Formats: sequence, structure tokens, C-alpha cells
Amino acid sequence: MTPDQAISNPPAAAPPEPEPLLLRAAKGEQVDHPPVWFMRQAGRSLPEYRELRAGTRMLEACRTPDLVTEITLQPVRRHGVDAAILFSDIVVPLVAAGLDIEIVPGTGPVVASPISDAADVSKIRGLDPADIEDIAVAVRQLVAELGDVPLIGFAGAPYTLASYLIEGGPSKDHARTKALMHSRPDVWHALLGKLALISAVFVRVQVDAGASAIQLFDSWAGGLSAADYAEFVLPHSQGVFAALGPAAVPAIHFGVGTGELLDLMRRAGANVVGVDWRIPLDVAAERIGGRTPVQGNLDPALLLADWPVVEAAVRRIVAEGRRAPGHIFNLGHGVLPETDPGVLTRVVELVHSL
Ligand code: CP3
Repeated sequence: MTPDQAISNPPAAAPPEPEPLLLRAAKGEQVDHPPVWFMRQAGRSLPEYRELRAGTRMLEACRTPDLVTEITLQPVRRHGVDAAILFSDIVVPLVAAGLDIEIVPGTGPVVASPISDAADVSKIRGLDPADIEDIAVAVRQLVAELGDVPLIGFAGAPYTLASYLIEGGPSKDHARTKALMHSRPDVWHALLGKLALISAVFVRVQVDAGASAIQLFDSWAGGLSAADYAEFVLPHSQGVFAALGPAAVPAIHFGVGTGELLDLMRRAGANVVGVDWRIPLDVAAERIGGRTPVQGNLDPALLLADWPVVEAAVRRIVAEGRRAPGHIFNLGHGVLPETDPGVLTRVVELVHSL
């Protein structure tokens, strides 16, 4: 081809597809309205989920790619959310690495042999990508099915995982966890270092299979002082984000009750900081230095209130989010099982109309 031909016959390139709203908001680009998805959008609030899960244990469902794919797609079809989140659980990589954990309905993860000393930590082996090939299969299937809708991958952060392993199950005060952290810092750091590697492999497998963003859930970090978080948790969460590498996908970092930790959580390496309902998004954005997008922050309990209450809260949150350098609309924590899914659909429509 001569240069002349090249000028008269430009290749018939399709106009470039705009990037999905979620990814643009995560980068702090200007968008007309915030993208919206919900933590725990897949799950017990949906009758089609309850029907599909009947007779299958949670962890078995998480390891069956066709079920993972279908359950992940259900809320996307029903609500028209701007992202899917992989249906799985934070303990899936721990089980895949050989730990004996069951997810008990109505309770949460229960650990057969809780961790209390160096010998317990030394028995934890690493996670090999081959241990979670089923997760890669599910992600690849999902990416093919989702088309333009981005898939968010996730992992539990080392602290939240450690809290389950040390307490043996859900806990209100995380007393054993904090006691081990302070009295055996060597054991603590060895444990969190191992968990960071396991979480890093779990998210890396999802990203390599095509996930467009990831969220690190440090759900229970809000129970820590900033000083304890900085010394005992931050370096390990940093390790998870660092393992993803600089060219990887946008990373969201979320915990509950973390108003005093938000800037440390940003410093762990997040591109977006998740905020629960306790502080306004514009205040949160300021606390993290005014340059990092935020995600949140409707109180999931409000979804059980009358619609005018929900509507006013959604409008307020979107307005507060506009004062942040970027906003992904979400709840301040997961969808409660008793939520009317019709209300979630209305919230999506409302956010998209604003
Ligand atoms: O958000 C999503 O839609 C994706 C799926 C997802 C689940 N768990 C599915 C699930 C995600 C991202 C998680 C992460 C998770 N798991 C976290 C971090 C997020 C958070 O909520 O703070 C935590 C702390 C866990 C541990 C865990 N697993 C708990 C507390 C529970 C609930 C126990 C109960 O029965 O109330 C689980 C089980 C679980 N994980 C369910 C679902 C849909 C319910 C199981 C069921 O339907 O039988």
C-alpha cells in the first residue's frame, strides 16, 4: 500500500468503545451518573438464587463453575447493575489451600482447628493457581457472558481472614485475634504474610482470567485502632495490592466502620476506597486526600424503609459523591437477605436517572 492509498482508504475502524462506567469512575474520570453495584447483590435476597442453591452447600456452589456463573449473572439481569461481582466467598482460597472450614448457614465461616501458635501457622501451605482452576473457568465463562459489563473479582484481606482463623468463626470483639497480634507479633506477622500470599494468588487468578477490577474485603478491620492497623495490618494488605502490580486492574479496598482508617486503607494501594454508611462520602473523600475515588454508602438497613426514605438517601449520597473525585454507588455493607429485590432495582434506576 502506498502512502496515498493509506490516506484515501483509511481502515474502516469502528469508533472506540467507551470504557465501562465502573472503570471510568474508578479512574476518577467525569461520568454523567455514578455506576452502581451492590455488595452481596448475588444471594439470599433473590428468590432465583434461593431456588438454585437449594440442596447445595455454599462452598460446593462456589466450586461449581456453572453455578458460580449463573448466580453471578442473576443480579445483573434482574437489576441492570453496572458490574457483576464473582459469586464466591473469602474463605474459598483458604479451603482450596487445605484448611478445614465450613460455611454454616446463618452463622458464616466456621474453622475446625482455630490457629493459636507458630506450629499452626507453619502448617498452612500456600495456594497454587492449579488449586483454583475452577475459579478461572468460572471467570472466563462469566467474562464471555457479560459482554460490556465488567466483572469484579475479590479476596478477603489478611486481617479479616486471620480473624476467622483465630476466632474459629464469626466474633463481635475479635479478642483472641487482638491478643495474638499483641502478645505474639512474630506468629501474627507470619500468619498474615501467608494469608497475603494466598489472597494475592486468588485475585491474580481472577484478573488473569479476565476480571476487570478487584475488591479487597477487610470487613472487620474497623475494630482496630489506626495505630494497630498501621503496624499489624497495613503492610500485609499492601502486599496483596503490590502482588497485583502497577499495570493491573482498578482495586477497591473496603471495610466496615473504617472511618478512622480510610487514609491508611488508601495507602495500602487502593485506587478506590469503600466507605460504610457512618460518614458522608465527601467527608471520606477529604480524609483520603481529595484525589482518590470513593465507593458507597447507603446503609443496607434503609432498603427496608419506605421508598421516600430510600429515595432521599440515594439522592443525598449521589450529591455527596459528586464532591469526591469519583464515585461508585454501592451500599455501606452487603445486601441483607430480607431486602425486597424490587427496591434494589428501583435504586439502580434512580441512580442512573440522576
Ligand atoms: O457480594 C457478592 O454478591 C459476592 C459474593 C460474596 C459472598 N461472600 C457470598 C456469600 C462475597 C464478596 C463474600 C465475601 C465475604 N464472605 C465477606 C466479606 C464481605 C462482607 O460481607 O463483609 C465475609 C466477611 C464473608 C464471610 C461470610 N460468608 C459470611 C459472614 C457469610 C454469611 C453467613 C450467613 O449465612 O449469614 C458467608 C456466607 C455467604 N457468602 C453467603 C453468600 C451469598 C450466604 C450463604 C448462603 O446463601 O447460604
